[in-house]
Amino acid sequence: MVKSKVYVKAREFVENPKEEDFKVIEQNVDENLEDEEILTEAVCISPDPYIRTYPTPVGSEFRAFQVAKVLKSKNKKYPTGSIVLQEIGWRTISKSKGDAVWYRCDDLPPNEPVSVATGALGMPGITAHYGLTAFCKPKPGETVMVTTAVGAVGIIVGQIAKLMGCRVIGSCGSDEKVRFAKSLGYDAVFNYKTQDWKTALKEAAPNGIDCYFDNVGGKMSSAVIEQMNPGGRIGVCGCISSSNSKDIPQAPVMQVHFVYKYLMMAGINIFTLEDKKPTYDILNQWIKDAS
Ligand SMILES: NC(=O)c1ccc[n+]([C@@H]2O[C@H](COP(=O)([O-])OP(=O)(O)OC[C@H]3O[C@@H](n4cnc5c(N)ncnc54)[C@H](OP(=O)(O)O)[C@@H]3O)[C@@H](O)[C@H]2O)c1
Repeated sequence: MVKSKVYVKAREFVENPKEEDFKVIEQNVDENLEDEEILTEAVCISPDPYIRTYPTPVGSEFRAFQVAKVLKSKNKKYPTGSIVLQEIGWRTISKSKGDAVWYRCDDLPPNEPVSVATGALGMPGITAHYGLTAFCKPKPGETVMVTTAVGAVGIIVGQIAKLMGCRVIGSCGSDEKVRFAKSLGYDAVFNYKTQDWKTALKEAAPNGIDCYFDNVGGKMSSAVIEQMNPGGRIGVCGCISSSNSKDIPQAPVMQVHFVYKYLMMAGINIFTLEDKKPTYDILNQWIKDAS
């Protein structure tokens, strides 16, 4: 038997999660493997905001992604020593048949920390690429708006949209983040906490917005949709502005914009993308080329 440390929910969150809301317990894991099974040890674990959108009862383990090393294997796809990205929760040691594995990531860029496989080369990066290319479908010269411009997903969306030849604008929550976003190539960024959204969006997108990668929802998204061009595309990735809301948040009625400007809005759900490895390969190559 080996011991696994497992994070479980100690109590319900009130607004933002606090340390006391979590508890670490120990579980015994049998090292003996059956056919197809792998025994893994976490190298790094990701605390993504999507975890909050799944109900985790008190006493239960959180679902989450981790980069892990395969310690023992009876599965040809994941031999001993290989590195995998898997959605298996906040736990150190895991045993599975590899069904939680998204892909092997033994070929990470040598100059990056392994945690890149929980970010740009992990679920956020894959979501960014899939959401932008399959839902927003930007064309060169179009204007793409990204909320949470330097969050784990947004920061990749912005950079891919630049690579696709777009004008890229964004919003984020501090002047420091605004400076950082600009250093990454965003053409215009504003601090949504201190600036008037309507004016800032008009200045950032004088010719209107063609694609909107929506991470926040709520009133900010309504302000963006108002300034979209005919034929605009909206990929809804998240609604983090209402993470702490108990009541259903209110936003202005937007249907008139959808009808007159024949806008398209679709939900991005990364778990519907069957094979994530080709996207990983594209992103991995871009990072290697840039270093
Ligand atoms: N659909 C999918 O398959 C999928 C996959 C991955 C992620 N997501 C969703 O995508 C969104 C972004 O995820 P992420 O991993 O990039 O998040 P992240 O890196 O943790 O970034 C979250 C950022 O959201 C902003 N934020 C927090 N509270 C906010 C509020 N009340 N109003 C507006 N902005 C707020 C903050 O940035 P500022 O300081 O700039 O405000 C924060 O840094 C989340 O909603 C997540 O659930 C969806």
